[in-house]
Amino acid sequence: MNYQLLKGKKGIITGALDENSIAWKVALRAYEEGATFVLTNAPVAMRMGKINELATACNTIVIPADATKVEDLENLYTQAIAHLGGKMDFVLHSIGMSPNVRKERPYGDLKYDYFLQSIDISALSFHKLLQTAEKLDAINEWGSVVALSYIAAQRTFGNYSDMAQAKAVLESIARSYGERYGKLKKVRVNTISQSPTKTTAGSGIDGFDAFYAFAEMLSPLGNASAEDCANYVISLFSDLTRMVTMQNLFHDGGFSTNGISDALIDKIRGEK
Ligand SMILES: NC(=O)c1ccc[n+]([C@@H]2O[C@H](COP(=O)([O-])OP(=O)(O)OC[C@H]3O[C@@H](n4cnc5c(N)ncnc54)[C@H](O)[C@@H]3O)[C@@H](O)[C@H]2O)c1
Repeated sequence: MNYQLLKGKKGIITGALDENSIAWKVALRAYEEGATFVLTNAPVAMRMGKINELATACNTIVIPADATKVEDLENLYTQAIAHLGGKMDFVLHSIGMSPNVRKERPYGDLKYDYFLQSIDISALSFHKLLQTAEKLDAINEWGSVVALSYIAAQRTFGNYSDMAQAKAVLESIARSYGERYGKLKKVRVNTISQSPTKTTAGSGIDGFDAFYAFAEMLSPLGNASAEDCANYVISLFSDLTRMVTMQNLFHDGGFSTNGISDALIDKIRGEK
C-alpha cells in the first residue's frame, strides 16, 4: 500500500523503542507515504531500544528528548525545523509509562510520587508537546497531532491502575487543546483508543495476555494490530481527515461497542 498520502509533509514521531512499538510501525508507514520526519525518544531509550536502526530505515535522525521536560521539547522542535527545513504538519505522541504498574503496586497501595510521574509522562507530556509547539509556532495550519489512548479511560480494567487516570487526562487534553489550536491555527488534535497490542508498554500490564484474549474474543473484527493502528494514524495525518478534531477515536475492531460475542458465549458454556 502506498498512496503518497503524506507527500511533502514533515513531522515528529515519538515513542519508537523497538520493532513492536506502535510508533515504529507509524514511522515505516509515514516513510512509505512520502513524509519526512524526525524520530525522538527519552534519552534512556537510546540505550535500551533500537531507534537508530529505524532512523536508518527511514533516512532520518533521532533527537533525544524527555517528553516531561519543556526545554527538551523546545530543542526537539527547533532541531526538527532546522533538519526538515520547515514547520511540522504532523506530530505523534506515543508515550506511556507508569512506575506503579511497572512495580506491580496494587491500586490500594499506590505511591503518589509514582502516580504523579505516570500522569506527567503519559498525559501532561501531551500538553507540553502542544504548548511548546504553539509557543514556537512549530506546526503548520491544518497540521495534525495524534496521541494514543486506551479504553481504560472510560471503563475500569483493574490492572491498568493509574494509567487509566493518565489516559482520561490525555483524552481531555486533546479536547481542550484541540479547541484552542483549531481556532488559532486550524491545527487538529485527536486521540486514538487502540486495542491491546503486544508491545513493551502493553505487555508490562499484569494480566495483559487475558486482556488481549478477551478483547480478541469480544471484538467482531478481532484486535486491531499495530500495523492497522499505523494506517489509521496515517489517515489522520493526511488531508483526507481535515475536519476531524477534538475526538477520541476507537480503533479496536468493535470492542468498545459490543456487549458479548458468540466466541465468549461458547467459551463460558464450554467451561461450565
Ligand atoms: N500496547 C497496548 O496495548 C496499547 C494500547 C492502547 C494504547 N497504547 C499506547 O500506545 C502508546 C505507545 O505504546 P506502545 O504500546 O507502542 O509501547 P512502547 O513501550 O513501544 O512505547 C512507549 C514509549 O514511551 C516512551 N517513553 C517513556 N517515557 C518517556 C519519556 N519520559 N519521554 C519520552 N518518551 C518516553 C518509551 O521509551 C517508549 O518508546 C502509549 O501511549 C500506550 O499507552 C498501547
